[in-house]
Amino acid sequence: MGVEGVGVFLVLGGSGNLGSALLRFFELSGTSCLAPSSAELNVLSRDAISKYFIQNGPKIKAIINCIAWTDVDGCERNPEKAFEVNSIAPAHMANVAQYIGVPFIQISTDYVFDGKGGSPYSEDHPTNPIQVYGQSKDHGDRAVLMRGGCVARVQWILGQSKKNFVTWVIDALKSQTPINLSTLQMGGPTSCAWLSERIGDLINHTTLTGIYHLVHDDYVNRYDCGLFISEVLNLPHEGVLVPVDHVNFGIAKRPENTMLSNKHTKTLLRAVGSEWSWREDLTDYLRGKCV
Ligand SMILES: NC(=O)c1ccc[n+]([C@@H]2O[C@H](COP(=O)([O-])OP(=O)(O)OC[C@H]3O[C@@H](n4cnc5c(N)ncnc54)[C@H](OP(=O)(O)O)[C@@H]3O)[C@@H](O)[C@H]2O)c1
Repeated sequence: MGVEGVGVFLVLGGSGNLGSALLRFFELSGTSCLAPSSAELNVLSRDAISKYFIQNGPKIKAIINCIAWTDVDGCERNPEKAFEVNSIAPAHMANVAQYIGVPFIQISTDYVFDGKGGSPYSEDHPTNPIQVYGQSKDHGDRAVLMRGGCVARVQWILGQSKKNFVTWVIDALKSQTPINLSTLQMGGPTSCAWLSERIGDLINHTTLTGIYHLVHDDYVNRYDCGLFISEVLNLPHEGVLVPVDHVNFGIAKRPENTMLSNKHTKTLLRAVGSEWSWREDLTDYLRGKCV
């Protein structure tokens, strides 16, 4: 689907998984973007943000912030940096966006939840992050919402250039190296190509305030997701994908169940009748169709 209207989008974090997919999506939709690199715009400087946003404000239709420090264990080691990038910078961006009257979309995460509930989290479920990364993102989200912006939560995202859960499983299957996969950790793989289309829907159909869950209709645990990958790629999994009944931790704790409900979001995006299937999305991703 295209993205309607005139003007340009300001995409921040254009070198990352989601930001780069979003830039491709806008390019294919014939929509112009501004995408300053971290060298061109220092988002840790309030002055630099104010100057850039105010200078370019008249031509910007919406700002999409895909910048984050996504190294979950790194954030645990260096909370100060985590809060600088994931809380303070988006708070200031949303502040200036509100001042110049431009809608602001903050991309966020399922890690704002503790993962202890047994059912899918709705958009308005209270957050309770259990590691610094989630805490810093949650803090940033609240600041954005307070300034009239919009928060789009995503999970298990699959980009084209960087390693992710799926590429890790593929590497293990190809090299026949055993890996442990949790049967408890629930969520859903989501390609950045699919997410970019949903962000386009957000822009076209909503007022860009409040919280949205850009996720598929159903859920899968890490082990079953691994089995699905081996089936689609026809790679043997016996002795390689090892089911474990715990979540694999690094330094930081990871939540177990981060199933996000998309019901409210689908209604607002006028997508109630359409199927948002992780199986279809992941199959396209594995077959290289998500570019
Ligand atoms: N990856 C996942 O599975 C996942 C899951 C849930 C939610 N999310 C959320 O989805 C969003 C996009 O994630 P992603 O996977 O696309 O992230 P990513 O690939 O790690 O990209 C992060 C982006 O942020 C930029 N960045 C980081 N620190 C910066 C700084 N100090 N100044 C300027 N730019 C900085 C990076 O630029 P440089 O390349 O120049 O450093 C890069 O463009 C984030 O909000 C993340 O919290 C991700």
